[in-house]
Amino acid sequence: MDFRTQSASLDALAGINADALIVVIAGEALPAKLDKAVADAAKDAIKLGDFELKAGKTLLVQRAAGVKSARLVLAAAGKASLKSAKAAVAAALGLVKARNAAHAAVIYLGFEGMDEALAEQTALAAADAVYTYRHTKPSAPAASALSKLTLLADKAAAKAVKLGLDRGQAIAAGVELAKECGNRPGNYATPTFLAEQAKALAKSHGIKVEVLDRKAVEKLGMGSFLSVAQGSDEPLKFIVAKYEGAPKTQAPVVLVGKGLTFDSGGISLKPGAEMDEMKFDMGGAAGVLGTLRAVAELKPKLNLVVLIPSCENMPSGKALKPGDVVTSMAGQTIEVLNTDAEGRLILCDALTYAERFKPAVVVDVATLTGACVIALGAVRSGMYASDDELAAQLMAAGEQALDPCWRMPLDEEYEEGLKSNFADVANVGSRAGGSITAALFLKRFTSKYRWGHLDIAGTAWKSGGAKGGTGRPVGLLTHFVLSHAK
Ligand code: BES
Ligand code: MN
Ligand code: ZN
Repeated sequence: MDFRTQSASLDALAGINADALIVVIAGEALPAKLDKAVADAAKDAIKLGDFELKAGKTLLVQRAAGVKSARLVLAAAGKASLKSAKAAVAAALGLVKARNAAHAAVIYLGFEGMDEALAEQTALAAADAVYTYRHTKPSAPAASALSKLTLLADKAAAKAVKLGLDRGQAIAAGVELAKECGNRPGNYATPTFLAEQAKALAKSHGIKVEVLDRKAVEKLGMGSFLSVAQGSDEPLKFIVAKYEGAPKTQAPVVLVGKGLTFDSGGISLKPGAEMDEMKFDMGGAAGVLGTLRAVAELKPKLNLVVLIPSCENMPSGKALKPGDVVTSMAGQTIEVLNTDAEGRLILCDALTYAERFKPAVVVDVATLTGACVIALGAVRSGMYASDDELAAQLMAAGEQALDPCWRMPLDEEYEEGLKSNFADVANVGSRAGGSITAALFLKRFTSKYRWGHLDIAGTAWKSGGAKGGTGRPVGLLTHFVLSHAK
């Protein structure tokens, strides 16, 4: 989509010539200086009972008297917050996207001092509105006509708006990639497919990509990762991608994404209900690939490394069995009490591999535990960090991006359950505190650097009627990575 900014004042909206003029209004009263034609249309609609200045209310008026744009869309936001503005503009775009409107113009009334963040969220909302999955569904609705969005703002805000739109557009490109990877079925989105996506990014965005196959992974001694992959006929891939935007002397941010392209549970087979959703178990991989794309488009002065261990978790005659002991790249032996706790088994070796980059920080991202879904639902991702400063950075990035997370504890007492009589560590503890024990398992492999972990099991995709990838946490991660630019 084409995003622009144009200076416009409150009292001169009637002359804006778009296919849809979207007016997002905070508060319970129309602003005093509002353009007369727009105000008259709004007042009339309120009088008729067709519109109210209450969060969630929208109204589309065709050919409003004196308004040049063919459609006037009013959207009430209620509170003057970034979140309410995003919800209101998303609702308005929802009304516009299915119509024959190519150009939408948006103005926000009553949101002082939020220009940059509002612009970013507007770009994201527009990209979200027009995204349709179609790769394996040729009958999907035709693409939306909406192809251009102009954000109307004060002249003084032009620079901030431009910055916000650029960032929003880059994040939207990353979100789209993440959604598309997640939505593709397991028989399309294989480890090989993810590797191809990374290679395509290398071509289009000038980043470096290296894909390690089974042999190379064996040579590295990634016995834990290999043990998960061994039950599947689909070849594993270990993807290493590098964005180099700063001198080599600057320590990189390393992101690690869980890339289980299908998680059946293995011999500890999952129940059948909703097992299809385990095609989304590469949500971490999709999230870090999307972030890489967003960062590569914005070209900040920093170095970023993305690591993706990717395979399937399948039952077969060759599959890993409960009770098997495997040896990780770090040399720690692991008793696999449950083959369905496979994410941590592939991540631990990737976390060890990350050491070679002498990273400034490593953050892994994974659809790791059902327990995290129970704890936090679909609103906030679970966040763990080895120090308070990193936790604050991840938290802030989530708030800025409207892609929020919540810090979870790492008390060593929780680690008790990971004891094994037959190995250095077991891969599962008791059911209680399952997201925390999973994080503590990973923590054992991160002693060489600052480490953060996002459990996105509840946030990476939606279930039910709107089943599909969300593109989270590309927003959070992009903000986090950008905060490292020098
Ligand atoms: N990919 C799942 C986690 C998951 C489950 C994400 C449901 C989203 C929805 C992970 O590999 C898994 O199976 N975890 C187990 C761990 C358990 C065996 C300790 C889980 O959460 O049940
Ligand atoms: Mn599993
Ligand atoms: Zn899994």
